[in-house]
Amino acid sequence: MTDNNRVIIFDTTLRDGEQSPGASMTREEKMRIAKQLEKMRVDVIEAGFAIASPGDFESVKSIADTIKDSTICSLSRALDADIDRAGEALKNANSGRIHTFIATSPIHMQYKLQMEPPKVIEQAVYAVKRARNLIDDVEFSLEDASRSELDFMCRIIEQVIDAGARTINIPDTVGYAVPEEFGHTIKQLIERIPNSDKAIFSVHCHNDLGLAVANSLAAVNCGARQVECTINGLGERAGNASLEEIVMALRTREDVMGLHTGIDTTQIVPASRLVSSVTGFPVQPNKAIVGANAFAHESGIHQDGVLKHRETYEIMTAQDVGWNANKMVMGKHSGRSAFRSRLEELGTVFESDAELNEAFARFKDLADKKHEIFDEDLQALVSDTRASHYEKYKLSSLSVTSQTGETPVANVTLAVDDQESVSEASGSGPVDAAFKAIEATVNSQASLELYSVNAITSGTDSQGEVTVRLEKGGRIVNGLGADTDIIIASAKAYVHALNMLESTEEKAHPQV
Ligand code: KIV
Ligand code: ZN
Repeated sequence: MTDNNRVIIFDTTLRDGEQSPGASMTREEKMRIAKQLEKMRVDVIEAGFAIASPGDFESVKSIADTIKDSTICSLSRALDADIDRAGEALKNANSGRIHTFIATSPIHMQYKLQMEPPKVIEQAVYAVKRARNLIDDVEFSLEDASRSELDFMCRIIEQVIDAGARTINIPDTVGYAVPEEFGHTIKQLIERIPNSDKAIFSVHCHNDLGLAVANSLAAVNCGARQVECTINGLGERAGNASLEEIVMALRTREDVMGLHTGIDTTQIVPASRLVSSVTGFPVQPNKAIVGANAFAHESGIHQDGVLKHRETYEIMTAQDVGWNANKMVMGKHSGRSAFRSRLEELGTVFESDAELNEAFARFKDLADKKHEIFDEDLQALVSDTRASHYEKYKLSSLSVTSQTGETPVANVTLAVDDQESVSEASGSGPVDAAFKAIEATVNSQASLELYSVNAITSGTDSQGEVTVRLEKGGRIVNGLGADTDIIIASAKAYVHALNMLESTEEKAHPQV
């Protein structure tokens, strides 16, 4: 029996999330995130845009080959080559979906597609039929739907449902909608389209006006039964609706909305930490649900109230969303097999004994400096180990002198294609000096767009996780580094970013 009150959670962290400038992920990182999403019981994982590059194809394929409990989806424009490539990547999926789309707003049809509306309908119907020849589960999106004409949307949707689309997605591509209007649009579409009962209506909201979650909730209140969202609200420009906020709003206010999801909410914080550590996008402390302050009560009145009766100031528990998953897991005396199995639980599978040994050696080093090792430390350690593999530049050593009243000086030894090079530079602070010393060897001509330091866990022995964003010739990359010494973490992050600039894989953007 179908449950009319169940909202399908479609996570697009690996596709739309990856479109955030600098958020690109490796195949192995995407796999780790996909495993965590599966563990969280996400219904549909949009694993990527298979035609974008050979690397994207391989990522979608390996996720489709591996993940069994969630549906795996690939995006494709309404073009033959895109659809066929998506179908090929999903060939071995236990449950696969092709998500094809075309723009339907007057402005996109006229200037971007340069197509007349009847031609857009024809191409959409053709694309859905072609996808249905490859797979049963086909989703169709009307790009820029929130600026499209209602009558035109009714016409195209009726025809793509007849052509076999099972899910109809209404994106607010440019984050223009406001809740009441957006909900009304969804209601109108469902009421006016004669075969609307043959498909599930979905929404995909961007956050340009900070309304993505509100718009998504307005839509489900008006009949949509799938929400497209991302962990930490990652996504193109201001991001997408954040999964954790949608899921917890539906759960906490089931009394008014009467809707629910299948998500295991205790996996939310681990997923948020993982995505943040892989992408280098820190979570702001006051971010709902997953921010460090989300459950912290500072004022005396609040603390007193919570101690007397938790519900005085808390509408959900920290445990409900997985904050207690941050438990001490390992220490100095933990062995290799405990290390391996904890990382497997966190979604990391080592590809070789050599890789395991290298990560384990780093773990032992860390355990010497830090008594309690948490899941977040292990995740950072793996990101850091993998960041340093097979790369052009390697940080061999770094020493910095920093003293009150003196200019800091850094000495760096960098291996460039295995040839060691030593350089020295001074700077306004120790990090500045270290970056200048690295540049004295590399001379990358890249500009530093962002530098951020985050303490991974609490305490002064915590590892600092550093993100360095570099831009060169329009390309933006994020480098990551973790260490208990933040100057070393910073230098590692800088070197990681330089290595990422070296990669030459070209990627197509779905909406260009
Ligand atoms: O924002 C958007 O319109 C999209 C579509 C491709 C679904 O990401
Ligand atoms: Zn989008």
